[in-house]
Order: sequence, then structure tokens, then C-alpha cells
Amino acid sequence: MAVQLSDFSRQLTVETAFSVLAIAKQLKAAGKDVVELEIGDSPFPSTASAKREGIKAIEADQSHYCPSPGLPAFRDGAARFVKREFNIPAEGKNVIVAPGAKVFEQFFCEAFVNPGDGVLVFSPYFPTYIPNIQRRNARAVLCPLRQSNDFRPEVSQIENFINTDPSPKAIFLNSPQNPTGGVTTEQDLRDIADLIRGKNIAVFSDEPYCHMVWKGRHRSLLEMPGMMDQCVAAYTFSKSYSMSGWRLGFSVSSAEISDAISKMINTTLSCTPPIVQLAGLAALDQDDMERDETMQLFYQKVLLLNQGLNKIPGFKAIDPAATFYVFPNVAPVCNKLGITSHGLALYLLEGADDKFGVACLGGECFGEAGGGFLRFSCAEPNDRLQQALDFLPVAISRTDRIGKYLETHPQFKLKTPYSVE
Ligand SMILES: Cc1ncc(COP(=O)(O)O)c(C=O)c1O
Repeated sequence: MAVQLSDFSRQLTVETAFSVLAIAKQLKAAGKDVVELEIGDSPFPSTASAKREGIKAIEADQSHYCPSPGLPAFRDGAARFVKREFNIPAEGKNVIVAPGAKVFEQFFCEAFVNPGDGVLVFSPYFPTYIPNIQRRNARAVLCPLRQSNDFRPEVSQIENFINTDPSPKAIFLNSPQNPTGGVTTEQDLRDIADLIRGKNIAVFSDEPYCHMVWKGRHRSLLEMPGMMDQCVAAYTFSKSYSMSGWRLGFSVSSAEISDAISKMINTTLSCTPPIVQLAGLAALDQDDMERDETMQLFYQKVLLLNQGLNKIPGFKAIDPAATFYVFPNVAPVCNKLGITSHGLALYLLEGADDKFGVACLGGECFGEAGGGFLRFSCAEPNDRLQQALDFLPVAISRTDRIGKYLETHPQFKLKTPYSVE
């Protein structure tokens, strides 16, 4: 190829969940029975009002450009929603609409981060944070989350970043957290707000799992005084309303920051389809009950998976606090078998059996600090979750097959044992 791709393009890393999804689909097409627990998608249909209003909007020809920040009715509706649900003092001018929550990672970095700036990211992390920091030629500064601390960020780590980084500028906060299921408590959020208030530090508060909190209610940094002026919170319809394929999310921040993000939308996406916004608005206004019933179904699945995994020798998961992920520590198993955690994940899918497989992800897909863990999402019916649970100890006991898998996949041989907490 004569033309050279950019340095950024050549080193871009992507979300591994989609790569494992592709392998799982290929194996299924070839006749293998695969329980798919790799991707964080809902197995349920989009909520009823969203579907009904989406169809109506198509029939009413709501199929043209609309304002870049969003339809005024959607912005007002989303503001009412975050006020009602999370006590966030928002108005329509504080809301910007986009196709999902993910794209706000890029817009946040474009809004605040200059080349060379330090951006604190707790690890393991949602994989697309890093490429979006790199897009701005900034530096991701990684800080580990510990299972022994229920995967909560430590305020002292933030303090240390602000005091020692040569150019500290931003923090990525994600609560409830993917992949660990950890929750930043109300007190943690209060302490973080007290620490950064009035400083030149911006926070991206990624909150896609705001309705999957299994004890108490979701808390947002935006509830804390002054935070609207230095925090962008991102919400999505993908999880709460099972609308991942519609592509709809929104951000909440001060009017000034929202105007800056609106310019990013104007110059990239132009706008978010009005059909999708109208469907989403109906979900916000009318589908609370269906949403909450679905969330309870997820909770039952998380409990089933969590309890089942904790019965497997060498697996240890924290009590489920939030999200539809279970993130057990499997370091003892990896160390015994001499296999990396993502190697173990792919072995369960490809190598452990000819006819049956379980798709999940190694924790290192979410950064080095995730090594020695597996992430399971619970996007399958309960009987399929049980089948996966029954299969895992059998798969791990097939040491001959593990040996063969490592011979053909030497990249998954564990060089240094994981530390066991
Ligand atoms: C932490 C986190 N942020 C963002 C997203 C992206 O969500 P969306 O579908 O709204 O782009 C996800 C989806 O899995 C996520 O887990």
C-alpha cells in the first residue's frame, strides 16, 4: 500500500468484546452450541412505548435534520428524568443528545483535553477511554481498582494524581463500573467533589448502568454542589431500555459545556435521528415500570451467575452491587493451568469442547489490572447460564485439552503468575 495510515490509526485498539462476538458467531454458524456471555447487551426487547413511538415517528415523516444539541422536547424530557430519578438539577439547556453514550468520551476529551495533558483512568476500564484520550495526544494515567476495596476508586489516588502529575486535567469516572460491577459510593462522590471543586479538573462521569444498582439507588457526581460546572455525565438507552441498536444517549453538564459539546456534534454527526429521539423520549416518560421489571430480571441472573461462579474452586467474585456483569478473580486457576485469563476465556469458547462453548472475556481486555479475572455478562436465559456454570469446572479439569490449546496458542501461556489477594 503506497498511502500510509496515520500513527493514530495504526495503533488504535478496539473493544475486544466485538472480536470475541465475531468468533462466537462463526463457531455457532459452524454448528457449535455457544452460551454467549461476552457482550454487554440486553437480551430483552426494546421497551413498548419506545417501539410504538418510533413507528409513529417514521410514519409521521420525522425523518429530516434537527437541531444539533437535540429536539427541545427530548432535552426537556431528559432533564426532567435525571432530576426525578437522580436528583440532578438539570434543565433542557444542560442536555445534549447523541447516538449512544460512547461518543461523549471523544467529545469530552475534545472539549477539555490538550495534547500532553494527564487524564486519570481507573483500571480495569471501559476499553474505548484510552483511544479517545490518545485521539487528543494526551496521556492516560492508570490507577488500579482493587477487588479487596470492592473496586471503588480511592480518593487518595485522585489527590495523588492532581498533586504529582505534570499537567493533570481530567478524570474518567465510571459508576456503576464496567467490567468490575463496582460502585462509587455517595460518600466517595462527596469526597471527590470536595477535592476537585473549583480546580481546573474536568470529570467524565460515565453512567450507563444507572438503573442496575442492586442496593439503594444510583448516585451521580452531578448531585454534588458545583459539579455541573466541571463534570459531563453520560447516559444511554442501551441498557435501561434495551435499545442498544437504536443508538441513543445524552450528556448532562453546564449550559456552557453543553454548548461546546453541541459544536462537536454539529461538526461530526450533524444531529441524532429525530425518530430515535422521539422513541427514547417516550421510553423516559412512559416505560419506568417495564424498565424496572427488566432490571429485576437482570438482578436474578446476576445472582445466579455470581453464586454459581463462587462455588467453583479458584473463582472469587464480590457480592453483586451493580451492573449485569460478574467479574470473578480466577488468578489461582490461571496460575495452576499456566494460562492467561483471556487465554482461559478463549479456551472455554474454542478449545474445551468440540460441541459446546462459553464466550466470556479475560479481564486484561480492560487493561493490565484486569489480568487474572474473567468478565461474564448475563445476557442469556437462566437455563443457559446454568449450562455455562455446569460446563466451567468440566472444562477446567480437561488438562489435556488445555495443554493442546496452549501449544496452538502459545501467546496465552502465562509467563509470570498473577498475584493472589
Ligand atoms: C462503561 C460504558 N460506557 C459506555 C458504553 C457505551 O454505551 P452506548 O451503547 O450508549 O454507546 C458502555 C456499553 O457497554 C459501557 O459499558
